[in-house]
Amino acid sequence: MAVTILAIESSCDDTSVAVIRDGCVLSNLIANQEIHMSYGGVVPELASRAHQANIVPVTNEAIIKAGINITDINAVAFTRGPGLLGSLLVGTSFAKGFALALDIPLIEVNHLQAHVLTHFILEKGKESRLPSFPFMCLLVSGGHTRIIVIKSHLEMEVIGNTIDDAAGEAFDKCGKVMGFSYPAGPQIDKLANDGNKNAFRFAKPSVKGLDFSFSGLKTSFLYFLRDRLKEDPDFIENNKADLCASLQYVIVSILIGKLVKASSLTGIREIGIAGGVSANSGLRKGMKEEADKRNWNLFIPEFRYTTDNAAMIGITGYYKYLKGEFSGQEITPLARY
Ligand code: KG4
Ligand code: ZN
Repeated sequence: MAVTILAIESSCDDTSVAVIRDGCVLSNLIANQEIHMSYGGVVPELASRAHQANIVPVTNEAIIKAGINITDINAVAFTRGPGLLGSLLVGTSFAKGFALALDIPLIEVNHLQAHVLTHFILEKGKESRLPSFPFMCLLVSGGHTRIIVIKSHLEMEVIGNTIDDAAGEAFDKCGKVMGFSYPAGPQIDKLANDGNKNAFRFAKPSVKGLDFSFSGLKTSFLYFLRDRLKEDPDFIENNKADLCASLQYVIVSILIGKLVKASSLTGIREIGIAGGVSANSGLRKGMKEEADKRNWNLFIPEFRYTTDNAAMIGITGYYKYLKGEFSGQEITPLARY
């Protein structure tokens, strides 16, 4: 019998609901919250209110678009964390109510594990190339920068982590200094295409092992701009594309450098990227070049699965369903998982 999962994602500023049947996406809807743009970052209180307004209509639409009946749903998967507590509470409470009303199992999902399992999402009519185990994934998002070894669908080990800021934060915070709205990452990516990546040099941090650090880069970028602005008040405007290209280049080099190291240490050549920053064109291109050079079997997610989405919660929920890993009604969200 087919297994149909309703999946809810509400960890940050996107309300997303998906329907997954036997690992295959039937619908995956995302309501973005544009309200945060002018604030330079996500405002938690506004995010949870927007989730409350969005969750019922988005769920309704996801069920209709999937072409299923509500009674076809076998379980409800939801993001338990990590994320903003108020936002998580909306999705968690909704999922609990939904499961209770239909008398079906509830499945908690770790948002980070879900980003990684993006690579196992199946799509109708599309030939799927799935990673084999062990698989190594660079998870790069607004809140996390990790190298993860995936031993099986539900068995993962973090072998590298950021000691301060995440890669997405480096994009967003440096972008904010240049006057971009939140999130700056996609805007920097776009402008970087017209810039010279060697125009300015920013030092790479020296962090031991497989860990990352991005806060030094952010500070040096800030000081660099401060000094240049003293000489030329229009420095940012006059050099925006070059600044974006140089900044993107150094962030991407740091990420790929550690991944190369991780691959040689572990011997794993089955390699992927996931999370919001995996949408970055410089990172995608750099990964393809590295994969060709090093004979990696490379997995790059479709753009729609890079940023937060419920399809990734659904695929994780599906594998947990197969193992009977269910949660009780007493479950509460976790800001830190
Ligand atoms: O995974 P995600 O949607 O949310 C978190 O779980 O954090 O990632 C959001 C992050 C933001 O920092 C955003 O600036 C970054 O992903 N991002 C990008 C690009 N698209 C999104 N960064 C660089 N280049 C992009 N094209
Ligand atoms: Zn995320």
